[in-house]
Amino acid sequence: MEAPAMETSSYEETADWLRNHTDQHPKVAIICGSGLGGLADLLQNKKVFSYEEIPHFPTSTVPGHAGKLVFGSLQGRECVCMQGRFHFYEGYNIQTVAFPVRIFHLLGVETLIVTNACGGLNTSYSVGDIMLIKDHINMPGLAGQNPLVGSNHERFGVRFPCMSDAYDRDLIALAKQTAAEQGCDSFLQEGVYCMVAGPSYETIAECRALRMMGADTVGMSTVPEVVVARHCGMRVLGLSLVTNMTVTDYDSHEKANHEEVLQTTRHRAKDLEKLVSNLINKI
Ligand code: HPA
Repeated sequence: MEAPAMETSSYEETADWLRNHTDQHPKVAIICGSGLGGLADLLQNKKVFSYEEIPHFPTSTVPGHAGKLVFGSLQGRECVCMQGRFHFYEGYNIQTVAFPVRIFHLLGVETLIVTNACGGLNTSYSVGDIMLIKDHINMPGLAGQNPLVGSNHERFGVRFPCMSDAYDRDLIALAKQTAAEQGCDSFLQEGVYCMVAGPSYETIAECRALRMMGADTVGMSTVPEVVVARHCGMRVLGLSLVTNMTVTDYDSHEKANHEEVLQTTRHRAKDLEKLVSNLINKI
């Protein structure tokens, strides 16, 4: 499944194909995390593409990830929504994981909203909390798996992009205000998301180490897409749903498992979808 590093022409071909198959011009793209693809169903005047039919687009292999690119309007705003994302742990190379973000850029998207499921490391968090991502720790990136490794495509951005402003402060403020208006601020958090490669969940010692490093949550996605989005100048908002608390105690009999992740997601998905949809027409 390992894909070769993408040539600029592949990005252009994919963007051209999509331009020729839809007359919509979204300024906002949304990447839906595990079980959070219901957001795409809220779009009106939908134009739906399965990933298989889009030239050069990778395909998704995880249960709960539909694998569709959905164009349509949310609260009157044209959006493009990825129902199902690509994960490094599926065997894709890290550039492929972030491939769709460059397509969005070529289509004229200016704002990227990313959602994901995560494990809570901060003990003041609870299962079902929604965390606004204020910063990230890119564990694969620090270990050499950064999607911008390789020759720089000047077409998209500079060789050494800044990441200290990765998550847009104005969008975070807007999300907080929207959450207060819809009454979900009681389970809203703001914190640091740490990406790990997965697919095995973290050991107790790893969770303790990540917490000491300053991470509030941990997950296996999102960061490659954010790095590539920032490289090409998009504004980014990240929303992380705490689906389980990580195990940090050797006396605990809790075990992280994918079923719990999916169950919490089902429980809270509607709130998260409502939050995104309510803030979209304020962007
Ligand atoms: N660890 C890593 N990724 C996750 C977790 C977790 O505990 N929960 C949901 N995604």
